[in-house]
Amino acid sequence: MVFSNRMNGLSSAIFSTLENKRNELVSQGREVFNFSVGTPDIPPAPHIIHALQEAAGFAENYKYALKDIPELVEAVTGWYSKRFGVCLEREEIVSLMGSQDGLSHISLTLADPGDTVMVQDPCYPIFSVGPALACANLYKMPLLKENNFLIDFDAIEPSAAHAAKLMIVSYPNNPVTATAPMEFYEKLVWFAKKYDIVVLHDNAYSELVYDGKRGESFLSIPGAKDIGVEFNSLSKSYNMTGCRISFALGNRNVIEQLRTLKSHLDYGVFLPVQRAAIAALTGPQNCLQETVDTYQKRRDFIVEGFNKIGWHMEKPPATMFIWAPIPPKYDSSEKFTIDLLEQTGVIVVPGSSFGERGEGFVRLAMVQPEDKIMKAIERVKESGIVNAG
Ligand SMILES: Cc1ncc(COP(=O)(O)O)c(C=O)c1O
Repeated sequence: MVFSNRMNGLSSAIFSTLENKRNELVSQGREVFNFSVGTPDIPPAPHIIHALQEAAGFAENYKYALKDIPELVEAVTGWYSKRFGVCLEREEIVSLMGSQDGLSHISLTLADPGDTVMVQDPCYPIFSVGPALACANLYKMPLLKENNFLIDFDAIEPSAAHAAKLMIVSYPNNPVTATAPMEFYEKLVWFAKKYDIVVLHDNAYSELVYDGKRGESFLSIPGAKDIGVEFNSLSKSYNMTGCRISFALGNRNVIEQLRTLKSHLDYGVFLPVQRAAIAALTGPQNCLQETVDTYQKRRDFIVEGFNKIGWHMEKPPATMFIWAPIPPKYDSSEKFTIDLLEQTGVIVVPGSSFGERGEGFVRLAMVQPEDKIMKAIERVKESGIVNAG
């Protein structure tokens, strides 16, 4: 069999190596500490589970949904208005089976083969895989520590900007954890208008911001809706990753095209999941603060614990991740990741798997409880892997 070239970019040797090594350790009875996958270990609030359970009890909810139910659209408009001061109309909203669904398909609506899509480097993998599936060319915008991991618009070549159809941007950012100030978004809107580029802003971590600060919406910038859309997911905010529900919001032409494409691909989000989303967005919101408090506590515990044993890293301002530099004696994040797993049972993701500019870092997801974190730090300390020499 000969499979399409498209498939070549979809497998990563490092992830199968890590999976094999992990299975090997488990079969030897060794304990592993999985900080690799960004799926929350925190349960959804009881009222969300209850809404899903109740809706799943009605036979009519097993039909194709086809559309977003009016109460869901109302819940989303209420959420964006109350939370971000952004007014949305029905035509400016479409639900997605997770932002992953939208990210993998939006390029198909905007880019023809050979067109350019601008992405951050490093970036969350589907940001580059989506355009690649549409056979678009990628233009990488480096995220450098010296620029606070923000895109440097002045460094973008005008010829590349003229050629670009779509720019995919995300703050708070996975994997680098940086947030962006409002002036950044103002410049983004100005840049996109100047070069006639559609902007997709992925706001998956709008609610996971620490130290008393709050995330913003790109759509609250005047003119943003003229040139772009935002994706916002319930996966991380409400611990609903498996439910697969998220929203594309903003420019009605972009939303209309995405809705048309999706009408050929799926028949809408399962109705009980739509009901659970309504419960999440309109029910008591203290669960959001509880989730933030849990991650912030873990963040302090992990960063302070590792710093104490000589693995220096900074506290992330947002997201559920830590972007940690690899110890100076290593020059490859993959090599460090494999050694770390073999010597300590701790699983992280090598920065290079997020793009060339991710080299020199690893990503830890804060998805383990404190007793596991404490044990993991102890194992790393015993191994001496982060010490000089
Ligand atoms: C930046 C970013 N966008 C989107 C997603 C996927 O979200 P969803 O579960 O809504 O598909 C993730 C998941 O880790 C993510 O980190």
